[in-house]
Amino acid sequence: MTENKLNLAVFISGRGSNLQSLIDACQSADFPARISFVLSNRSDAYGLERARKAGIPTSVVLHRDYPTRETFEDAMMAELAKHPVDLICLAGFMRILTPHFINRWPDKIINIHPSLLPDYKGLHTHERALADGKKEAGCTIHYVVPEMDSGPIIMQKRVPILPGDTPETLAARVLEQEHIAYPEVIRKLANKR
Ligand code: GRF
Repeated sequence: MTENKLNLAVFISGRGSNLQSLIDACQSADFPARISFVLSNRSDAYGLERARKAGIPTSVVLHRDYPTRETFEDAMMAELAKHPVDLICLAGFMRILTPHFINRWPDKIINIHPSLLPDYKGLHTHERALADGKKEAGCTIHYVVPEMDSGPIIMQKRVPILPGDTPETLAARVLEQEHIAYPEVIRKLANKR
């Protein structure tokens, strides 16, 4: 059944807990996707360890080695060309992609963001939600378009903000939902093909 599976490239920059949720989901024989390779723009990303432990090929493309965003993106596209890839999953990938890259993969790049978009695009989402006295937070998985954190939404998961929450306690509550949402979205997109 491997032939019918959706081939994922997962792009990371760090911890890789969302990558782990996808690795774990892919262990189930009935999960309709597999991870072709993991790409990181940092050589010390812990997610690379997770991929290696799971026997998944990894590529490290260091953005600092390239003079422009576009040449960095060319190097990433060269890595993509080495593997079967149907969908690129950004999972804590901390580089902004330009139209040069995004337009080569129309509707084939998705991202997970730790807020209920369109609220709190960018960084420090939990701090900002708490500072605004919000009652609810969550995560969003969306298609990637050139404008940051702005593409069509595929799925959101909501959590309450509780009295006494800190950015850390809230982040942990949201992250739990992120780990449920990403495999759900992959299942949904794979089954839609
Ligand atoms: C997650 O909160 C994700 O929503 C955001 O970056 C974080 C990555 O965490 N884009 P991890 O590397 O998957 O553990």
